[in-house]
Amino acid sequence: MTAQLIDGNALSRTLRADVAARAAALKARGVTPGLAVVLVGENPASQVYVRNKVKACEDNGLHSLLEKYPADLSEAELLARVDALNEDPAIHGILVQLPLPPHIDAQKVIEAISPEKDVDGFHVASAGALMTGAPGFWPCTPYGCMKMLESIGYELRGKHAVVIGRSNIVGKPMALMLLAQSATVTICHSATADLGAMTRQADVIVAAVGKRNVLTADMVKPGAVVIDVGMNRNDEGKLCGDVDFDGVKEVAGWITPVPGGVGPMTITMLLVNTLEAAERIAH
Ligand code: GUN
Repeated sequence: MTAQLIDGNALSRTLRADVAARAAALKARGVTPGLAVVLVGENPASQVYVRNKVKACEDNGLHSLLEKYPADLSEAELLARVDALNEDPAIHGILVQLPLPPHIDAQKVIEAISPEKDVDGFHVASAGALMTGAPGFWPCTPYGCMKMLESIGYELRGKHAVVIGRSNIVGKPMALMLLAQSATVTICHSATADLGAMTRQADVIVAAVGKRNVLTADMVKPGAVVIDVGMNRNDEGKLCGDVDFDGVKEVAGWITPVPGGVGPMTITMLLVNTLEAAERIAH
């Protein structure tokens, strides 16, 4: 193995300790940072994510409110709950777990969240803020990837970053965050003609498509930094990313593992955003 690991668990511990200290300071001033997590339906993966988010709040001194609703909750009822949470002074961040059942327009629900409480960073106002450099919440997963790059002291200015994936949640905001640090950014996706030709030029590769082995050793320039956002299962049911870790770790300079890489960072940045939402109110 030539690559050094970027340990998302270790970095999360450091960042969460800072969150806990700042949460305690706010609490001493009478403000307990509060996150509302809304889950509609019984999606098993969503149930695990939601449980982990609530537990992370409890472990770090944040108040959490978990609201669970049956899959047949109407869109109007959900919008009414979001409105009530917007008005609730004990709640500084609102997260509606996705996916929502098909009869609910997810974007409409996201737009109903007050941008000041949009700790997921999915509201159009948050996306616009990221695009223009205005203050606003950044989506947690790409924000966590940026913290991982920062943790190794990586200087992005003038580097070529290739993002594989163009989702609103990861790919597009990731590209904007890298651009804001003066990287030259290429976004690749399912219609990219020759993915390897792009990634072989990259100093930094972020893989975020949700498909195993999208990035293999022959597609990586020696010494490149490889960030794996994927969360997939292999044939044995083992958690794995989008990157062929065993192959790529022999070529890359730095690599994030799955599990223990980007995953814990996503929840950590949710805590950071919630804390900042509370700090903005308290100041
Ligand atoms: N579903 C999968 N990832 C996420 C996330 O980061 N936030 C929300 N709200 N739903 C998700």
